[in-house]
Amino acid sequence: MTKCLITGGAEFIGSHIIENLLNSGHEHDVVCLDNFDAYYSPRLKGKNTEPFMKYDRFKLVKDDIRDEVLLNQTLVGVEYIFHEVAQDGVRTSVEAPMNPYEVNATGTLNLLESVLDSDIRKFRNASSSVYGRVEYLLFDEDRPEQPSPYGVSRLLAKHYCRVFEELYGLKNVSLSYFTVCNLHESCER
Ligand SMILES: NC(=O)c1ccc[n+]([C@@H]2O[C@H](COP(=O)([O-])OP(=O)(O)OC[C@H]3O[C@@H](n4cnc5c(N)ncnc54)[C@H](O)[C@@H]3O)[C@@H](O)[C@H]2O)c1
Repeated sequence: MTKCLITGGAEFIGSHIIENLLNSGHEHDVVCLDNFDAYYSPRLKGKNTEPFMKYDRFKLVKDDIRDEVLLNQTLVGVEYIFHEVAQDGVRTSVEAPMNPYEVNATGTLNLLESVLDSDIRKFRNASSSVYGRVEYLLFDEDRPEQPSPYGVSRLLAKHYCRVFEELYGLKNVSLSYFTVCNLHESCER
């Protein structure tokens, strides 16, 4: 049986990944690590994860990704990671740049370091738009990056992932999502 960790799995994208893993027919063990951060509705996160509680194969760890001891305990037996944790908010990052830095950059580096001592076979990092000011359209991957403080923190995380593959052989991919549609009827954003 394969064990998967979804960080930030209580929100829209992570909870859909969990739903798919639990119903894929492959009997995955699934761990969700999420601190139910209040930037978006914690009540909605509870609603997203509640249907998974009936599965013996599902475990919810309600804690912070920056807690190294907890991470090492949580990673035991995990082979695949979907890293969806983020401290969002381009506008709020302008007023408080340390918040996204601590979660997105330091939190990801913390996770990557813990992963090196584990059995992880593949690491998928959720990234975001890091391009910033729009100089021309359409968007392509060659455009120069001029990110906000939020974007800088996401860019750092992406580069930490690259470095961990190049230097330490950790297989990973970063996916830059652009405004994923939220079809929850009770969307509280
Ligand atoms: N939804 C979109 O349109 C969109 C667009 C671009 C990128 N993304 C990225 O995709 C990923 C998933 O997006 P989403 O909208 O499902 O979720 P999200 O970005 O709203 O939040 C992810 C989860 O991370 C958790 N979290 C925050 N800080 C934490 C910490 N320190 N420790 C543990 N958990 C913490 C939150 O409680 C939340 O449930 C994120 O990385 C996000 O930035 C999403």
